[in-house]
Amino acid sequence: MRVLGIETSCDETGVALYDSEQGLLADALYSQVAMHTEYGGVVPELASRDHVRKLIPLIKEVMAEAGLSLNDLDAVAYTAGPGLIGALMVGASTGRALALGLGIPAMAVHHMEGHLLAPMLEENPPAFPFVALLVSGGHTQLVRVDAIGQYELLGESLDDAAGEAFDKAAKMLGLEYPGGPLIAKLAEQGDRTRFRFPRPMTDRPGLDFSFSGLKTFTLNTAESCRDDQGQIDHQTMADIAAAFEDAVVDTLAIKCRRALKETGLKQLVIAGGVSANKRLRTRLEEMVKAEKAHLFYARPHFCTDNGAMIAYAGCQRLLAGQQSDLTILAKPRWPMASLPPL
Ligand code: KG4
Ligand code: ZN
Repeated sequence: MRVLGIETSCDETGVALYDSEQGLLADALYSQVAMHTEYGGVVPELASRDHVRKLIPLIKEVMAEAGLSLNDLDAVAYTAGPGLIGALMVGASTGRALALGLGIPAMAVHHMEGHLLAPMLEENPPAFPFVALLVSGGHTQLVRVDAIGQYELLGESLDDAAGEAFDKAAKMLGLEYPGGPLIAKLAEQGDRTRFRFPRPMTDRPGLDFSFSGLKTFTLNTAESCRDDQGQIDHQTMADIAAAFEDAVVDTLAIKCRRALKETGLKQLVIAGGVSANKRLRTRLEEMVKAEKAHLFYARPHFCTDNGAMIAYAGCQRLLAGQQSDLTILAKPRWPMASLPPL
């Protein structure tokens, strides 16, 4: 089965073609980051308008790259949520209309299910059941995954998502949007022992997270380091970035270890934008080794938003005989645990 995947939930236009027999045939991404940087974050209306401009050219690009025509498609999968409503509407209406015009099924895909299944696109994918840590700009969740569509929420952030915390901390240090990769880069030059930031909610039982206190801690630390001109020297910035990154990474690792112990499972999957973070990967590799467990993640390009994960997730549901009705489905909020099993 050949499925065209369309992702437009936030600030990346992603399109890909996945074949259930041959794997990924083509993948194209347009990032709007440069446009939003000026505003320090995603401007929803600008995002929607840019998806309108880029989506059809990207679909053409992907079909050309695969050397196929639209008539060779068996189905279309589009991200239906969660995400920015205007941005979602672009992919949903285009995807649904394309499927209707071609007389083929459409599948409305949950964005976080897409992220969750992205490591399946790699060699040596995990086998069910496993524990998944979903860490993106909008979500931080620990999920027990027994099969596609069988999700048990083990814990989640009570306030900011991990990626959001990275972005906000970056802003406090005067870095551009999105701040996650920039904090990570700056942290490489930092002295990781100079500051010690708290590891929120690790001293009590449970698998929930909270990152808003860490944000305040970062702000206070940064303020206390400003000189008479209100500047923070480069080395201090790097030291703060390193302390912040270590606090987030450590907190995530402590909760992941706890989730493995509580479920008795031996496989940990990490997905979403923050799973591209090298420090997180290294720290979790050490943790799973000590627990005699295994860690799985996607290549960095498939950790952040992309069309391939949507094509893959949609394909799995379509292969199981599911398909969405004629509704153009766009849901800004959509709990993953409400998805039907295969
Ligand atoms: O999954 P994603 O592309 O979009 C959402 O669904 O939200 O995640 C984007 C988030 C941003 O907050 C970004 O700062 C963060 O992932 N991110 C990172 C890294 N790369 C992306 N955070 C830390 N380290 C990174 N290397
Ligand atoms: Zn995402």
